[in-house]
Amino acid sequence: WAAPAAALLFGYLLGSIPFGLILTRLAGAGDLRSIGSGNIGATNVLRTGRKGLAAATLILDAAKGFAAVAIVEAVSPGNGAVAAAAAFVGHLYPVWLRFRGGKGVATMLGIALALSWPVGLVYALVWLGLLAVVRISSVSGMSAAVAAPVAAAVLGRFEIVPLLIALALMVLWKHSANIGRLLSGTEPRVGTSRG
Ligand code: G3P
Repeated sequence: WAAPAAALLFGYLLGSIPFGLILTRLAGAGDLRSIGSGNIGATNVLRTGRKGLAAATLILDAAKGFAAVAIVEAVSPGNGAVAAAAAFVGHLYPVWLRFRGGKGVATMLGIALALSWPVGLVYALVWLGLLAVVRISSVSGMSAAVAAPVAAAVLGRFEIVPLLIALALMVLWKHSANIGRLLSGTEPRVGTSRG
């Protein structure tokens, strides 16, 4: 049990690093939790007007998901999925922020890439493609999350489908406020004044 427990702890600690919050604070751009949606993710960092910081948040939040799986799988083969789930939960529910973390879209990208790069590629294409067309971050992010288990099944990677379904459901759960705004037509588009 020691190896899975270590994977769990390592994954959680890595996933719980709130890069968006740290970067915006270091840059003197205020506390993300009192800006825009209040979320600690890249989309909300973008609302500070700092595109570079938003890109860095996206990359680092994805990288921690990727690294949790890749490092644990290299050190302890077979425990990558435990690390993936733990890193994801760490990002969504970080102990340091009283368990009020992010929505998981960037971190799930990193996890998908580490579990299966073709699944990660589909995820990135759905995310960025829909973002370019619809320009609503939550819509593109939720769609990418739902596309991941479908892509894994189509590609024959059935062993990772249950984990990806669980992560997608958590992404949807964390977007409940966004879904409410989408239904009432008040969800902002990126690049607009409210975006
Ligand atoms: O990844 C989070 C994104 O899907 C929505 O972010 O700040 O618009 O709630 P936000």
